[in-house]
Amino acid sequence: MPTIRDISLAPLGLKRIEWVRDFMPVLDALEKRFIAEKPFAGKRVSVCVHLEAKTARLALLMRAGGAEVAVTGSNPLSTKDDICAALASLGIEVHAFFGATPEEYKEHQRRTLEFCPHIIIDDGGDFVTLLDKYPQYATNLIGGCEETTTGISRLKARVRAGTLRFPMMAVNDANCKHLFDNRHGTGQSVWDAIMYSTNNMVTGKTVVVAGYGFCSSGIAMRAKGLGANVIVTEVNPYRALEAAMDGFRVMRMDDAAPIGDIFVCATGCKDVITKRHFERMKNNAMVANAGHFDVEFNKDDLRSLSTEVFDRKPFIDGYRLKDERIINVLADGRLVNIVAGNGHPAEIMDMSFAIQALSAKYIMEHGASLENKLYNVPDEIDREVALIKLEAMGLGLDRLTPEQEAYLNGEF
Ligand code: NAI
Repeated sequence: MPTIRDISLAPLGLKRIEWVRDFMPVLDALEKRFIAEKPFAGKRVSVCVHLEAKTARLALLMRAGGAEVAVTGSNPLSTKDDICAALASLGIEVHAFFGATPEEYKEHQRRTLEFCPHIIIDDGGDFVTLLDKYPQYATNLIGGCEETTTGISRLKARVRAGTLRFPMMAVNDANCKHLFDNRHGTGQSVWDAIMYSTNNMVTGKTVVVAGYGFCSSGIAMRAKGLGANVIVTEVNPYRALEAAMDGFRVMRMDDAAPIGDIFVCATGCKDVITKRHFERMKNNAMVANAGHFDVEFNKDDLRSLSTEVFDRKPFIDGYRLKDERIINVLADGRLVNIVAGNGHPAEIMDMSFAIQALSAKYIMEHGASLENKLYNVPDEIDREVALIKLEAMGLGLDRLTPEQEAYLNGEF
């Protein structure tokens, strides 16, 4: 039995899945291949990724390849109930609903693993962590794929500690993932969500972006394009220099706190904004997070400074400070682009999920010879996805002649 909110939402969810299908040509190409080859025949795949229309396409692709598929969401606030209903109506095992309590959310993940998958597709490492508690669900497990930077950091820590018990593929680190999804997907969708939820101007505002990595540089770049005056804070000296030479103001968060109008964190770190920063922010400053966990700005600190927390409008809570200033928290500090917006555009997830699907196929085919380590996505997979995407976009690519190749290899 699926664990969903309302099956009557299925027709709306099906329309949304049909919409994204038209903008995911790489998944279409893989679907044709998977239908013919059935690479996952007889295998079970459990997916834990933000459960919205693009993820539904991934689940359906895996099923087209012969897999039995169970899905759950990787954040209770990013789950779309109509998509859950649509997937359930198509016979996919779904355990998720919007707004699940922490206990319900964990139970949804447990039920998705109870299915004893051969492959897991994880986003942020929740499945891998839960399998420590329920090792009986890992009896068939060949390995899995990890979607995001924070999940990769957690897997690397496990490799160092010797506690990774199956091979995992670092999908995030493939070129066709982080160069486009993290930078351009997050860059665009963060502003889509902030503009939609606040209905405020961005142009002319002082925007403070914490981090200048793949996601945060995209966020800074798009803010600049929207006419904001952008400040970047960093802890990495090279990234700080890169931001400065890309034309951004670089300073410490202590100095940025009193001058920012909109703050966006995307560092993968915690406590980037704390009490001493909130104490100095302007009245009506907006604070949002695009990092994987809701720890980048410290909500407990903000609460401790507040006399009242009140609902201002959908996806915005006002924290009234003792001196009557209000700090606006977007999307409760969760990933703003997915919770308060539509997430990454379909064209971007087309590449990320193509890497997921081909990496899952790779793990299935090579799992027996792999060690309990974190593996990079093979270059052939990355390149293949890039080539299909270029073709779908109608973009030509020059080819090296043998003489040019030799020249580039220093043979002249
Ligand atoms: P990254 O490693 O490329 O960039 C993070 C940057 O933040 C680095 O330059 C680092 O030096 C900097 N940083 C770390 N601690 C800091 C601090 N205390 N103050 C200022 N800067 C700091 O990582 P990436 O790929 O940009 O991912 C960042 C986060 O976003 C991760 O949690 C990742 O899982 C998440 N993510 C979110 C997405 C979304 O849709 N919202 C999409 C993809 C990733």
